[in-house]
Amino acid sequence: MSEVLTNPKAGYYINRDVFGAEGDFITSPEVSQMFGEMVGVWVMCLWEQMGQPERVNLIELGPGRGTLMADLLRGASKFKNFTKSLNVHLVECSPALQKLQHQKLKCVDEENEAQDTVKRTISSLAGTTVSWHTLLEQVPSGLPTIIIAHEFFDALPIHQFQRASRGWCEKMVDVAEDSSFRFVLSPQPTPATLYLLKRCKWATTEEISKLNQIEVCPKAMELTETIVNRISSDGGGALIIDYGLDGVISDSLQAIRKHQFVDILDNPGSADLSAYVDFASIRHSAEEASGEVSVHGPITQSQFLGNLGINFRVEALLQNCTEEQAESLRTGYWRLVGDGEAPFWEGSDDCIPIGMGTRYKAMAIVNKKQGAPVPFQ
Ligand SMILES: C[S@@+](CC[C@H](N)C(=O)[O-])C[C@H]1O[C@@H](n2cnc3c(N)ncnc32)[C@H](O)[C@@H]1O
Repeated sequence: MSEVLTNPKAGYYINRDVFGAEGDFITSPEVSQMFGEMVGVWVMCLWEQMGQPERVNLIELGPGRGTLMADLLRGASKFKNFTKSLNVHLVECSPALQKLQHQKLKCVDEENEAQDTVKRTISSLAGTTVSWHTLLEQVPSGLPTIIIAHEFFDALPIHQFQRASRGWCEKMVDVAEDSSFRFVLSPQPTPATLYLLKRCKWATTEEISKLNQIEVCPKAMELTETIVNRISSDGGGALIIDYGLDGVISDSLQAIRKHQFVDILDNPGSADLSAYVDFASIRHSAEEASGEVSVHGPITQSQFLGNLGINFRVEALLQNCTEEQAESLRTGYWRLVGDGEAPFWEGSDDCIPIGMGTRYKAMAIVNKKQGAPVPFQ
């Protein structure tokens, strides 16, 4: 999964823009500007709870086209004390997407005559510095930190296990005689079984006994530890929004190409691979990593956006727009907060249902010094 998505030469994300109607799938920031604006409200509220520090690292993991951060900065640009405090750090493995993010944030690379000084890049949306990294660990530490991960955890590689008469076996990819790929079960436990044991430790015997397949994401556990260590030492918090469940995931790995579900093993690198996020394992990993953070949620995206005031925002935007813009605002709003059971998008056979409001969930991890973040109190 990791190779298919992020191989430096042929990885799915590496050389292209995969988002939107012309791409393979659409995400909430691409649905409506209100999504990034509401996340901006959350970030500003946390910054206030942190005591309005003069300098803050605002980190986004996997920013895609950069739309969320652009809407956040544009929306917050009137709050000068806040935007003045920000050093924006984008953690992105794809050079093609880094370029798009640079454009979307209207970045200007400062001319710099002196060879030995670091060249700065400034987003003209709010006058903040912007830097790119391929790993969270590369972002300089020592400043209070706010981390956003929207649809990032779902792209991290998972391991799948299946119950067999010889015990739990790992599902693995094999090459068949005709050179096509196929799934096989491991003949005996694999090293990844250690992660299965770790995950099962956090579940009840009843929960596990009902399942014949289990998905585990060790990278999500490791990333959570890295986030928690950063927040414990530097202060601040993290917001994770993704589709997933608050419990053990059975079998959710999926491939999407041109808005359709396709076979996972078909032409690897040409379709997005993602899996449901196991929010319970993130919570347990966070709580095991440090006693200095508190974990909140998950709550549904609909509750998150509703309690932050998206209704007021849509009303305000509707006051001053054309009929065409009003239509797009209304459909965007319902798509963000609507129920996942709603009819499919505009009668098309798009594999993403119209409502992202309950399928997507929000979780916050914050340094205990700040108290519970809005709207999780
Ligand atoms: C599903 S997209 C989400 C994009 C964006 N957050 C949005 O909601 O529109 C995943 C993003 O994470 C990036 N990404 C995936 N795996 C990564 C990794 N291991 N390290 C850094 N970036 C990664 C992809 O290039 C892409 O920008």
